Amino acid sequence: MIEDMRVGAILKPGERNQIDAFEMQIGDVAGADLGQLHALSISVGWPHRAEDWQFLRDVGKGVVATDDIGRIMSSAMWFRQSPDLATIGMVITSPRLQTQGTGLWLMEYALQDLEGVDLRLNATRAAQRLYLSLDFVPEKKVYQCQGIVTNAPGEQTISGDLRMLGDDDLAAVIALDAAAFGVARAGVIEKVMAHSRGYGLFRDGVLKAFALCRRFGRGHVVGPVVAADDEDAIAVVSPHIRDHQGRFLRLDTHFETGDFALFVVRSGLAVFDTVLTMSRGKRLADFVSDEAHAPVTYALISQTLG
Ligand SMILES: CC(C)(COP(=O)(O)OP(=O)(O)OC[C@H]1O[C@@H](n2cnc3c(N)ncnc32)[C@H](O)[C@@H]1OP(=O)(O)O)[C@@H](O)C(=O)NCCC(=O)NCCS
Repeated sequence: MIEDMRVGAILKPGERNQIDAFEMQIGDVAGADLGQLHALSISVGWPHRAEDWQFLRDVGKGVVATDDIGRIMSSAMWFRQSPDLATIGMVITSPRLQTQGTGLWLMEYALQDLEGVDLRLNATRAAQRLYLSLDFVPEKKVYQCQGIVTNAPGEQTISGDLRMLGDDDLAAVIALDAAAFGVARAGVIEKVMAHSRGYGLFRDGVLKAFALCRRFGRGHVVGPVVAADDEDAIAVVSPHIRDHQGRFLRLDTHFETGDFALFVVRSGLAVFDTVLTMSRGKRLADFVSDEAHAPVTYALISQTLG
């Protein structure tokens, strides 16, 4: 998919000269140098390891912009969660090239590949203007909670059977995630589960809530977490918190208040930053059941995968 597209092609005439000096070329993220991708995310202060980039390349597609001596200056990736819904992420421009049109250029490339698909992404403050200009609509804040686990909960009395998940639980996890997320994203969940330890809460043999946890960035991340209420969400996340006492843990949630949000913060995972979930096409609410006691996403897989 390597194409020689000039940044100037989609820029306003006044900006063209400035960009042309860079002689940028677009390429497939699949063939990009992993070390350079890692360096790009470090350059904007993101915690991704090379392994996290590799995992995302296994799950999705993307493009990079390189300068005339092959340095990766910008990236954008997208992930088909289902035939109708994709998430966009890893949109990064090297600080030395920002605000010169590269982010928009790569986004337009992504959007060409995603025509007719409903889109969701989690926007940093720096990126909101870019996405607004591409008709993304702001929806909900995401609270990025992280820190060293200082206050792991003790064993609680739980209504139901809490146990570690195995390969045989994959179909039930995909179905419960789909009820909360809005579409069945079997491929993504299967890959995430293969890298995760999971706990599930069962009643009468039926999966009612689950929480996965995997290596990511500075430590581990808990997500996705799906449950019908705070109590069940706390029940499935608690063992992960206990497993990481004294270690770095992260969890991204739409919940700002309530017992679950309080439990996360009390465990040592303070709100480190916020991003904004934005969508184009169907809104978040269009995917979520309004039935009482329907499963809800308590923690995202990641900001990139939703
Ligand atoms: C967000 C980011 C990818 C934008 O890339 P870029 O190459 O600078 O984007 P563009 O030059 O195409 O700019 C697109 C629009 O965003 C605006 N913009 C770019 N950087 C911005 C910033 N730091 N703060 C506010 N607006 C910004 C530009 O002014 C432009 O708006 P305009 O057309 O109304 O003038 C880049 O700033 C970045 O890598 N930031 C750090 C990582 C990050 O937050 N990524 C987004 C993940 S959702």
